[in-house]
Amino acid sequence: MTSHPDHHYHMHVLTVLDHPNPASFSAAAADAFQAGARAAGHTTELADLHAEGFDPRWTLADIRGDHGPSAPEDVRRERKRIDRADAVCLVFPLFWWGMPAVTKGWIDRVWGWGWAYDQLDDPERSMQRPRTGVLLIPAGAHSDEMAERGYLNAMSTAWIDGTFGYFGFTERSLEVLYGSRGSDARRAGLLKQAHEAGYCLKTPA
Ligand SMILES: Cc1cc2nc3c(=O)[nH]c(=O)nc-3n(C[C@H](O)[C@H](O)[C@H](O)COP(=O)(O)O)c2cc1C
Repeated sequence: MTSHPDHHYHMHVLTVLDHPNPASFSAAAADAFQAGARAAGHTTELADLHAEGFDPRWTLADIRGDHGPSAPEDVRRERKRIDRADAVCLVFPLFWWGMPAVTKGWIDRVWGWGWAYDQLDDPERSMQRPRTGVLLIPAGAHSDEMAERGYLNAMSTAWIDGTFGYFGFTERSLEVLYGSRGSDARRAGLLKQAHEAGYCLKTPA
């Protein structure tokens, strides 16, 4: 395994965790990722969406807040976190080959039209500065199953191209932690993978 932190500059790294159980594998993966980022000299900040009670429901107040400074208070708080981050890592367990509800709603509400992007027909015209985006996803499935059945391609197209593109992320990566319900030895290996993802974070181009 090659481990080279990208030393061009120090980054502030926002990790967004979606899991209600502090003893979950997902929480351990978020810890390992952040420890790796700190070992490479970056600073870290955790958005623990369940612990903080983030409400993922998109409402009329969100719609009225589009294109103006009047977004709801909780959305503005999350946007301040993103403002100060150079890299954003989303950590969530794969649910039905998709995002769990809280991450989905955090994206729907926080990365809004008029704040993150303004061109529905041009995914690359983000209003945001270049950042690094990482998806760190514990999954029960094994890698051959996810690749052969097309799930990995589907996730990559929808999230890496279709979502991270709108947010102006110039470095994008999808790290699936396969077999996350496996043996202790397997999980230890996956946590090393998560640490490595933090340690080797690329700086935004
Ligand atoms: C509601 C639900 C849906 C799930 N759907 C999937 C799935 O589509 N694909 C998959 O590989 N694992 C799936 N899993 C397994 C989770 O990804 C796995 O339990 C999780 O990564 C384990 O980590 P945790 O201890 O942090 O929950 C699902 C689990 C739950 C509870």
